[in-house]
Amino acid sequence: MDRVRVSILGATGLVGQWMIKLLANHPFIEVAGLSASPGKVGSKYGDVVHWFIPGDIPEYVRDMVLVSTDPADHKTVDVVLSALPNDVAWSAESKLVNAGINVVSNASPERMNPRIPLINPEVNWEHLNILREVKNNWIVKNPNCTAAIISMPLKPIQDLIDALHIVTLQAVSGAGYMGLSYLAIDGNVIPFIKGEEEKIDIEINKILGKQFLDRYEPWSRPIYVTATRVPVKYGHTAVIHAILNRDTDANQIIERLRGFRSLPQEKELPTAPREPIKVLDRVDAPQPARDLDPMAVSVGRVVTRNNVLRLVILGDNLVRGAAGITILTIETMKALGLL
Ligand SMILES: NC(=O)c1ccc[n+]([C@@H]2O[C@H](COP(=O)([O-])OP(=O)(O)OC[C@H]3O[C@@H](n4cnc5c(N)ncnc54)[C@H](OP(=O)(O)O)[C@@H]3O)[C@@H](O)[C@H]2O)c1
Repeated sequence: MDRVRVSILGATGLVGQWMIKLLANHPFIEVAGLSASPGKVGSKYGDVVHWFIPGDIPEYVRDMVLVSTDPADHKTVDVVLSALPNDVAWSAESKLVNAGINVVSNASPERMNPRIPLINPEVNWEHLNILREVKNNWIVKNPNCTAAIISMPLKPIQDLIDALHIVTLQAVSGAGYMGLSYLAIDGNVIPFIKGEEEKIDIEINKILGKQFLDRYEPWSRPIYVTATRVPVKYGHTAVIHAILNRDTDANQIIERLRGFRSLPQEKELPTAPREPIKVLDRVDAPQPARDLDPMAVSVGRVVTRNNVLRLVILGDNLVRGAAGITILTIETMKALGLL
């Protein structure tokens, strides 16, 4: 397959808009269909979208007519990219798979299904290999945005880690376009995000574990998470304290983080960051307003005291945590001959 034809469910939402932006002029992924909620089906994309991500609506989608999520509207594509809300996603996605259509999804339902790979390409692209044994059509899940961002810098040091204590400071855009009212978050910090702490724990353990055809072996490390929402538009920050299994010098950690490369870098995939983990030397880094990289995870404040390591990390929840990871997964699957 030279070109990969895709359609996007939830194309008018925050994640869908980023997919459209990232796929404008993509060398081999072609957007062949766009879908939104039933009230917008039949309208031209440019007439009904509330475009609010940086830049203008790419010309190539302005006149595309929105379709439904029904399999009949996606018969001619190779993969459907789903950015549907969690409460409607599984019903639509399972209908597509049952109708013989492959799906890569951002939504949370079935992420922990032992037969469904949960993929952060640089971290666990090998988990995609189970699809070689799958006889019918497949669905691949993207991790929760925070789990995607955090699992990256853990990968090159995972053999050193016994336990993790994490506090997140998550951007408002993580809750979607209609997610939080201005009054609720302006000048405020909300120390609770429903379901988030559990997802970060179990998803990191799945991503850093081993995937077999019908089961996975989790990494099985205790991960204690406190998730907070802060008045930042874009970019999730996390303060991580890792309990290590031996005393380790911070320079050794930095060397491992800076040296980390994986299949997407080796294959020079179009959406892969050349340096997936950026260790920043500035004492006050990383900051969402200054250091946000679309696909790389930024790391600062690297300190060890005996066997305790502190890292502050930052990643783009909409790109690295959602739209960009979806596209990088497709590129990785093509590089592996799975598409
Ligand atoms: N925001 C993030 O940082 C982030 C990160 C990782 C994963 N995710 C996940 O990605 C998914 C999308 O998130 P988002 O932030 O882009 O949400 P969003 O901004 O609220 O967008 C939701 C999209 O789904 C469409 N939609 C709503 N109800 C529908 C229905 N019944 N049938 C068909 N389409 C429907 C909406 O269309 P209308 O415009 O017509 O309403 C819109 O295009 C969610 O599952 C979320 O958990 C989000």
